Amino acid sequence: MTGVGNPRIFLSPPHQSGREGDYIAQALASNYITSLGPQVDEFERRFCRVTGFENALAVSSGTAALHLALVVLGVGPGDLVLASDLTFIGSINPVLYQGAEPVFIDSERVSWNMDPELLARELEYLASQDRKPKAVVVTDLYGQCADLEALLAVCRPHGVAVICDSAEALGAKYRGNSAGSGALMAAFSFNGNKIITTSGGGMLVSPERDLIDQARNLAQQAREPLPYYEHRRIGFNYRMSNILAGLGLGQLEVLEERVRAKRDIFRRYQKGLGNLPGISFMPEAAWGQSNRWLSVMMVDQAEFGADPEEIRLALEEQNIESRPVWKPMHMQPVFQGRRCRGGAVGEDLFSRGLCLPSGTQLEQTDQQRVIQAVRELRG
Ligand SMILES: Cc1ncc(COP(=O)(O)O)c(C=O)c1O
Repeated sequence: MTGVGNPRIFLSPPHQSGREGDYIAQALASNYITSLGPQVDEFERRFCRVTGFENALAVSSGTAALHLALVVLGVGPGDLVLASDLTFIGSINPVLYQGAEPVFIDSERVSWNMDPELLARELEYLASQDRKPKAVVVTDLYGQCADLEALLAVCRPHGVAVICDSAEALGAKYRGNSAGSGALMAAFSFNGNKIITTSGGGMLVSPERDLIDQARNLAQQAREPLPYYEHRRIGFNYRMSNILAGLGLGQLEVLEERVRAKRDIFRRYQKGLGNLPGISFMPEAAWGQSNRWLSVMMVDQAEFGADPEEIRLALEEQNIESRPVWKPMHMQPVFQGRRCRGGAVGEDLFSRGLCLPSGTQLEQTDQQRVIQAVRELRG
């Protein structure tokens, strides 16, 4: 069977709820075609209601949210920021924007997220060198929360702030609460492949009002509250457009449905492929409920008879998009020579992992096409 003639199956395309148009029409009718307006305010309010955070700032991307978090914390040139090694580079770039130095921390195997023990060892090592990082940025990978309580417990005696990069994890739960709960600040992304999208956008949240107020000011070119334009520090143009917030309002209404759909997709892959020799799936840690943003399959080449790249190419031939697991940061040419605590777990997950199509509009017949294509490789 070939993919010629079959419609393409994308990895995680946008999925409209059908309610976006009304909100966008309201924005247009009110002429708030700008970065401030009622849709932005309402999107921030409803986002707080959904996640349980008390303060939220809608911005132009998840990367912008993370950048603002670092600026608010005062991260600057030469500062150390400890961060997840197995992540997307958008998590790390803001550290470099600030001229700070990232130190990567490997994952544990239970959730594939930052290993609290390795973090503890790195903090102790740094303390022995009289160095204290300015922040720890923890990624909630593929929609699964890191063990934040354990990570916070490790950071507390050192007085280091924790920021959660929950870009992929909206709708996921950690001990019954939203992803990011417990961190000083958390960032979410609404780019086109996320569980809900504003085409491009992000949200910074915090239990601390003052931090979000500061971030809000910085996101608007750090304008002083004066009738004329006065600036006492350097800011950014990072606010979300009111039109895109309308898109977000229409998307947020169906978040729970989307989480259910993503989890169902994951279960169907597990059922359809999990019994093949050499195939396993990303585990779900007991402390939470993943949103299964992407269904990630692990392949043992010796047992299965093909490696993830062969599977990816075979799927591509059938017009099906899949993607390797994130390449760990310590393996990235751009971060050559940077410090990393551990690294073997991330390397292993990168070498054996493959992200399968996980769009919430994926029809069961299309998912069967994916499952069948993988099964055929087994012969
Ligand atoms: C883990 C992680 N961090 C940060 C980002 C950056 O978000 P954005 O693309 O909205 O800037 C993303 C998504 O792209 C991500 O997956």
